Amino acid sequence: MDTSGYARWFRDSTPYISRHRGRTFVVLLDGAAFNSPNLVNIVHDLALMHVLGARLVLIHGSRPQLDAALPDSLFHHGRRVTRAADLPKVLGVFGEQRVTLKALFSGGLPSSPLRRSDIAVMSGNFITAQPVGIIDGTDHELTGKTRRVHIRRINAVLDAGALALMSPLGYSPSGQVFNMASDELATDVAVALGADKLVIFNHADALRDAAGQRLSVLSPADLDAFLGDPDDMDKNHLRCAVRACRGGIQDVHLVGYAKDGALLAELFTAEGSGTQITESNHELIRPATLDDVASIVDMIRPLEERGILVRRSRDRLEAEISHFLVADIDSNVVGCCAIYPYEDTAELACVAVHPSYRDYDYPAIGPALLEAGERHARAAGAKTLFALTTQTHDWFVEHGFKDRGIDALPAPKQALYNYQRNAHVLTKSLDSTHDR
Ligand SMILES: CC(C)(COP(=O)(O)OP(=O)(O)OC[C@H]1O[C@@H](n2cnc3c(N)ncnc32)[C@H](O)[C@@H]1OP(=O)(O)O)[C@@H](O)C(=O)NCCC(=O)NCCS
Repeated sequence: MDTSGYARWFRDSTPYISRHRGRTFVVLLDGAAFNSPNLVNIVHDLALMHVLGARLVLIHGSRPQLDAALPDSLFHHGRRVTRAADLPKVLGVFGEQRVTLKALFSGGLPSSPLRRSDIAVMSGNFITAQPVGIIDGTDHELTGKTRRVHIRRINAVLDAGALALMSPLGYSPSGQVFNMASDELATDVAVALGADKLVIFNHADALRDAAGQRLSVLSPADLDAFLGDPDDMDKNHLRCAVRACRGGIQDVHLVGYAKDGALLAELFTAEGSGTQITESNHELIRPATLDDVASIVDMIRPLEERGILVRRSRDRLEAEISHFLVADIDSNVVGCCAIYPYEDTAELACVAVHPSYRDYDYPAIGPALLEAGERHARAAGAKTLFALTTQTHDWFVEHGFKDRGIDALPAPKQALYNYQRNAHVLTKSLDSTHDR
């Protein structure tokens, strides 16, 4: 990359750096990542995130290592049964993995990106576990599941500026040690901590559609089509992703452990590199139907009367309803916008949020409408989005639009431009995809 390309890339990452600072990330590192030459790069990228102020909880998996150490393991519905006699080997494997990670985080040779970073990595008794028990007559013995996540202990480690490292282990009040499924543990920890993101370093670098195209954003409901057989443990990461979203984690990111820089590309660029699973805007914004016309009219009439929006008759609104998207909270229409495609551009019009939902924190309705509008415009083949506004110029600029002249409008729109209204013409490139 030349100097200006590098500078631009670094500048473009500024909003992501600000967004991730002080946020809690639970990171699941698939056991197979330990056999990848990319492991050292993953550690360097996690170190960079730590240095940039992210609060990291790292949980490793161990499936291939345990398969090798315990070749005669019994599985029930894909879950390993841990016999008492297996435990020393299990603990040996986990100990070796923790030491490997701690050694990698400690390497500070002058040639390493970790020089001068001085990252403290701390482990602890963060999990109280209970036995999975007897299922369909199979006693899972020392295979455990989460009974309690000690949030305060983990937060104490993070508050001290350290990275929390966990093996998939839990302890019972009687002092018994249990072997746990790392992806289920990572989900439990993320949900209990109220983490901002769960990141899963996965075998596949992303989910793909039938044509092999990467799916960069999906809702948990979209994942249903990928879950397959409940005993297929390869899909357990996806089941955990759904459970995490349903448990209140805003974003789950699947990234490939074998791909150099996958985490940084996923979290610090608009395009991403893996698949982001997020409930937020997919279920908030939906296409409008004729049943929404009355609510849209109620919302936009006062804005039309103040000259903020161009007046639309009810008939025109009904005729154009297929262009509209609405924000729907508990079956109430709380916002709308319309997308009108013109060859390689599209107009974003009639953006309105109900006054009680403006400046709303989570979810922010205006930005969600804008993001959904961009997605629809892109799907219609648009490379840019344009908007005409008289009183909302700064909001659009703050959301990536730039001032342009009337000649930036497509010809049919130029012909209709109302010089008396004298609206600002703003455009936004649709190169970038969405917030990460
Ligand atoms: C503009 C609008 C869609 C934003 O929706 P939202 O869900 O509140 O979106 P956000 O949360 O991103 O916006 C809140 C921020 O935008 C600012 N904002 C609201 N209206 C603005 C305007 N007309 N000009 C500049 N900034 C504005 C708010 O002050 C707030 O700023 P803050 O974050 O510093 O407190 C909403 O305010 C609205 O419906 N306004 C009336 C209709 C309108 O102007 N539509 C555009 C027609 S072209």
